[in-house]
Amino acid sequence: ASLKSFNTFGIDVTAESYCDIDTIKALKNVLTEHFNKPLFILGGGSNMLLTKNIEALVLHINLKGIEVVSETKNTVIIKAMAGENWHNFVIWCLEHNYGGIENLSLIPGNIGTAPIQNIGAYGVELKDVFVSCEAINIENQTTRTFTKEDCNFGYRESVFKQELKGQFIITSVNIELTKSNHQLHTDYGIILNELEANGIKAPTIQNISDAIIAIRQSKLPDPKEIGNSGSFFKNPIISAEAFSKLEQNFPEVPSYKISENEIKVPAGWLIEKSGFKGKRFNDYGVHTKQALVLVNYGNATGKEIFELAQLIQKTVKRIFNIEIETEVNII
Ligand code: EPU
Repeated sequence: ASLKSFNTFGIDVTAESYCDIDTIKALKNVLTEHFNKPLFILGGGSNMLLTKNIEALVLHINLKGIEVVSETKNTVIIKAMAGENWHNFVIWCLEHNYGGIENLSLIPGNIGTAPIQNIGAYGVELKDVFVSCEAINIENQTTRTFTKEDCNFGYRESVFKQELKGQFIITSVNIELTKSNHQLHTDYGIILNELEANGIKAPTIQNISDAIIAIRQSKLPDPKEIGNSGSFFKNPIISAEAFSKLEQNFPEVPSYKISENEIKVPAGWLIEKSGFKGKRFNDYGVHTKQALVLVNYGNATGKEIFELAQLIQKTVKRIFNIEIETEVNII
């Protein structure tokens, strides 16, 4: 079976076998039957670059459902199943006037993969609203609840990418949102500009979502039109000392202060300055409007895109002496 339509990069590789999972019971059964055999867990396929055929049973996690599990006067806790599409969930929350994830509008992928890399955009991260998640231990099929602390969230990081990599399948996530007195996150100047351009003075969560959607659509390619996985690299965090050297040579370098000794530099800027923005080779390249995004114009192979990523890493290292790590999982 081809996996082309199951990964947002649109890479055409095959799976040895494939199984759609829509109940937890079915998931446990498959895990028991396939004990110790190679498995490949597929969610929304939005954060992976497939560079070869998958010699394993591909489990497509398609668990569905959204329900309110508890409420107070001002807040609500919602349980969403892993196979729900993230952006559809955001829309559902907006329809119910639940606030907290409007800044995370239009992020590709599913609920179940959101905690793995602690998705984030425009000043909000999943961890800000995350309560807990349930996951199944692949080896013994037991269910475990992970609290926020258990997940050890960081910038595009969690325990599921580190110590527990490949050991659990997330089946649902509990998220806490506001029903009233929404806390708006408009600290990104670009959001205020967008609201202003539309004459909005007292924004609602729906207005914020609309603004984020407009901003994202103006610079990020739609995977339905051009294959991609969003940011291909993480923004590197460097020491204050390294940053001051960088700033001497490049006074215009953008940056965000993380702590006294840690400065985050946008990888998109480093890549653009290295001359790669908008570069196209055959059917793959670097997006014209956001250098952090690598794209497949049609029939590129994962290997070609991976080689381009390595060339970019090497060039950035040579020019700036900064290592940029991939954000996307290379398979
Ligand atoms: N920049 C350039 N050239 C480029 C791209 C960016 O010079 O081609 C500069 C911009 O001028 C700006 C700065 O880099 O000053 C930051 O750019 P932007 O606001 O577009 O954000 P980013 O740091 O490139 C991160 C996330 C995005 C997220 C945005 C908004 C990472 C790896 N990426 O990108 O996340 O949407 O901030 O919060 O942290 C994703 O993870 O897939 C993703 C798209």
